[in-house]
Amino acid sequence: MKFIEAENYEKLSRRAANIISAQVIIKPDCVLGLATGSTPLGTYKQLIEWYEKGDIDFSEVFSVNLDEYIGLDGKNEQSYRYFMDKNFFDRINIDKSNTLIPSGTAEDRDAECANYDKKIKALGGIDLQLLGIGNDGHIGFNEPDSCFEKNTHVVRLHESTIEANARFFEKKEDVPKFAITMGMISIMQAKKILLIANGRNKKEILDKAFLGPITPEIPASILQLHPDITVIYSEK
Ligand code: F6R
Repeated sequence: MKFIEAENYEKLSRRAANIISAQVIIKPDCVLGLATGSTPLGTYKQLIEWYEKGDIDFSEVFSVNLDEYIGLDGKNEQSYRYFMDKNFFDRINIDKSNTLIPSGTAEDRDAECANYDKKIKALGGIDLQLLGIGNDGHIGFNEPDSCFEKNTHVVRLHESTIEANARFFEKKEDVPKFAITMGMISIMQAKKILLIANGRNKKEILDKAFLGPITPEIPASILQLHPDITVIYSEK
């Protein structure tokens, strides 16, 4: 594992964007695994800037996102599809039909989960997976549990995650209780993993995840077994 401590959030974002752009340059038709949340916003902003300067071309890139809220369609401003379009996809030259996000409104959720895994497999897996980390150690929406969930699945969000994500909604009650998330197989089979964490409040969970035992109670701890993972952390 490579651990980089960045001076501040801007530098963290720049380092992360550097790693992603290197991936796109080396393999223009790569599959990027992408995350939502506050932490990757600076990374996406930096990538957009480099795209606008003509330094990166996303026209052949495929992307697969980690998760989506159950019950929200892509027009809902709180959905992760809306987030990705607004903060990244609509501002670069990626082909939107090559951007996959699980559907939160599929009638047959089991079929949606199975299909999502099939689609990732058909793309040949993920070349570079960008991850954030929840305060409880979740990656994607793989919440602490008694076992690691392997495949894409529907998950009941833990109270602490609902509380943490309430900042994006008008009120806590509006946060969906369920989400659909990629499981550990697709994440762990990504050729490279880049995990970014910002703020002093993330330090304790980072230490538990990367220095403690590997346990499904801290889902990110499984990443200790990945052969090519970079963690970028900034305290401020
Ligand atoms: C989002 C996701 C989550 C976030 C995590 C950290 O797609 O998969 O695991 O990465 O909740 O969120 P932030 O970056 O808002 O602290």
